[in-house]
Amino acid sequence: MNHVLNNITGSEIIKISQKIKASKHHVFNLSIGDFDPEINSIPTKLRDNVIEEYLNKSTDYPMAQGDLELRKTVSKFSYYLPEEILIGAGARPLIYTLFKGIVEAGDYVLYPVPSWNNNHYCFLHGAGKIEIECTPENDFFPTVEDIKSNLYRTRLVCLCSPQNPTGKTIDPDILKGICDAIVQENKTKELKTYLFFDQIYSELAPTGFVHPLEKCPDIKDYLLCIDGVSKSLCATGIRVGWMTGPAEIISKMTNIFSHIGAWAPKPEQKAVAKYLDTEDMYSFINEKIMQYGEIAESICCFLLKMKNLHYKVDYKTPDGGIYISLYLGYSDKFESLECFIDFLIENGIGIVPFEYFGSKSNKGWFRISIGTIGKHQLESLFLKLGETIKKLHEK
Ligand SMILES: Cc1ncc(COP(=O)(O)O)c(C=O)c1O
Repeated sequence: MNHVLNNITGSEIIKISQKIKASKHHVFNLSIGDFDPEINSIPTKLRDNVIEEYLNKSTDYPMAQGDLELRKTVSKFSYYLPEEILIGAGARPLIYTLFKGIVEAGDYVLYPVPSWNNNHYCFLHGAGKIEIECTPENDFFPTVEDIKSNLYRTRLVCLCSPQNPTGKTIDPDILKGICDAIVQENKTKELKTYLFFDQIYSELAPTGFVHPLEKCPDIKDYLLCIDGVSKSLCATGIRVGWMTGPAEIISKMTNIFSHIGAWAPKPEQKAVAKYLDTEDMYSFINEKIMQYGEIAESICCFLLKMKNLHYKVDYKTPDGGIYISLYLGYSDKFESLECFIDFLIENGIGIVPFEYFGSKSNKGWFRISIGTIGKHQLESLFLKLGETIKKLHEK
């Protein structure tokens, strides 16, 4: 076995999810960033399009860069031309390819923590990590200065908005400041610094989401964005995502991708091409924004009540997406983080600590994912959560 096989760690979130599945009693699985298809199914029209494409026998190899009609449709609502777009089997293989194409072993990658999976992509590419510990006061985003002072040694800056695990969107002025700093840095650098901007939850943010190109058009030469249907259309199993960036880089990324072969299945690509940017899609997304917004508001309202009752509870209201950040100030009552997680699972609550998003200094903060619960379950969730918080307090 080589270094990667000897040292790879799987997804910590999936491990929590497996513990929950193994539990003998009912646990609210608010851990995984996925959807319960019984509650949040894909749009019916998208499903029908997929079936139709199988009936049409669209089952040979797709184009290496992705179905042209799909790239044309993505082009309509992104800032990019079809030749500046690469389609993949969801966001993940594209992020892997992005790292493969930009980062050399020993290069430094800078990202805020808590954040999703950047640590694993760094490990897979032998990159050094510059992790910026973010605070609740800053909505768990870095400041411009945090980034600026490290740019001289950074190959790739990773940002995500709305952020996983918090559901917060980055402040437009901070985003502009970071982009301006990268552009400035690159004026004197031969090996450029790139910005990887993950916007997979952006369609689910009713307000507040700003794209880097709106704030800093000059970042375009150094900007690679990731998006897809996984979260906006409850379509994590459909596996269609896209990367956008400068045509020259996308063309070379396409070559890497052709060897990995992690293309989205052709019927799904064609089905998504027909569905994206339709009225049905926008009304589906609007409904989801309302639904998640109502659930998030109810949960935050409940947490506020607990906070006002002087339990050591806090939270951050999300700007969009499917996550809420919750603070349970009882870490010191447990020998280890695992004991805390196990206690919560034993009491019927499955949530993910910020430590599993790379953060060391935000003990007691957890991510609640709401893709697997419906409004009808909230009352019993609040009963369970209330009892658990009381037990924690009395422990
Ligand atoms: C920020 C972020 N980017 C990308 C992904 C991966 O998306 P996909 O399922 O399309 O690979 C996730 C999944 O949880 C995510 O949270």
